Amino acid sequence: MTGPNSGSPTPPFTPPSEDEFRQAMGRFATGVVVVSTRSGRLDHAITVNSFTSVSLDPMLVLTCVDTDSRFHDAVVDAGVFGVSVLAEAQRPAASWLATPGRPIPGQFDHVPHERGVATGVVLLAGSLTTIECRTEAIHPAGDHSIVIGNVLSLSMPANSQPALTYFRGRYGALP
Ligand SMILES: Cc1cc2nc3c(=O)[nH]c(=O)nc-3n(C[C@H](O)[C@H](O)[C@H](O)COP(=O)(O)O)c2cc1C
Repeated sequence: MTGPNSGSPTPPFTPPSEDEFRQAMGRFATGVVVVSTRSGRLDHAITVNSFTSVSLDPMLVLTCVDTDSRFHDAVVDAGVFGVSVLAEAQRPAASWLATPGRPIPGQFDHVPHERGVATGVVLLAGSLTTIECRTEAIHPAGDHSIVIGNVLSLSMPANSQPALTYFRGRYGALP
């Protein structure tokens, strides 16, 4: 058997395990954000590191949400969401909002926050940047959905805190 271009024999090939995939992706250093929404008279949120800008004109961002998470159905239902880009000091909030099974009512009681002017969703106080979005599209992608948002509002408070980062499965900070 030969490879498509080389003409040489293809070496034995073993597909990666889920664990290897997780570890490989963990070597991609990221920031950490909390995505929030409001549905069924409840404030929902989830800590994610799958966040990126997509387009400048129109202004679009995306995040990938596990279809098994309680947040998934809430964000689909709401049609709007908020993004809080976390500073290092917000690490406790990141851990809390990534805790499976935490009660949703009252989950922000000990997390300083305000409400977005455009959508009313919760935005975390002390964030480096907050963004409010209207959901533009939701694309199924394996066990996650890619949620694309049209940027409605932005806030960049004066904040010289280091960013909260995630690398090799651990939180860190970047000046
Ligand atoms: C650093 C970090 C990044 C995460 N990134 C994602 C992500 O991109 N998408 C996702 O669906 N869950 C992600 N999670 C897991 C969710 O935060 C966690 O499963 C959450 O509690 C599930 O939400 P639920 O309580 O609404 O079910 C991440 C967790 C951590 C700690």
